[in-house]
Amino acid sequence: MKNRLAIAALVLWGVTVAGAGFIFVRGRTAPASDGRTAVLLAPADRDFVLAEMRSLLEATQTITAALAADDRAKIATAARSGGRGTVKGVPADLLIRLPMDFKQAGMAMHGGFDKIAEAADRGESMKQLNARLADQLNLCVGCHQAYRIDAVH
Ligand code: HEC
Repeated sequence: MKNRLAIAALVLWGVTVAGAGFIFVRGRTAPASDGRTAVLLAPADRDFVLAEMRSLLEATQTITAALAADDRAKIATAARSGGRGTVKGVPADLLIRLPMDFKQAGMAMHGGFDKIAEAADRGESMKQLNARLADQLNLCVGCHQAYRIDAVH
């Protein structure tokens, strides 16, 4: 009897872990009416992601202005504000709901900002930094073409 209970517990644990792993890779998504994949998030999580997006746009705006002003220090600071260091505050339950591709694209984008900051610190030319930003914006464009966020309760 005890053994059976232990086995049942083990099986249940296995199913839970497999389920969590499955969600971690697939996220919670649905095909959207506009051909993109909708990531399904609770309203508060959607607000969180969109607020982060708006700060990325702000960082991008600051970088373009700093490029025009030949201001490497400002480029580095603004780029770092969109870097990997900002990912720490993301709630775990939200991270689970994002599909793996989305998470990878997000990490690549944050890493790209860190690289721009490092390149600015190294003294790369404004032209080189501008080219980096153009590549970086391709990551924004690519993800926006593939995904949107729908709120679910
Ligand atoms: C990993 C995917 C991904 C990357 C990379 C990404 N975004 Fe987004 N972003 C999204 C999604 C999904 C939405 C929601 C779009 C929708 O629902 O139509 C969004 C929305 C936005 C919004 C709208 C915010 C609002 O309040 O509605 C802005 C602005 C934005 N992104 C800026 C950026 C910028 C700038 C970059 C690059 C530096 C970027 N994003 C990179 C996925 C991404």
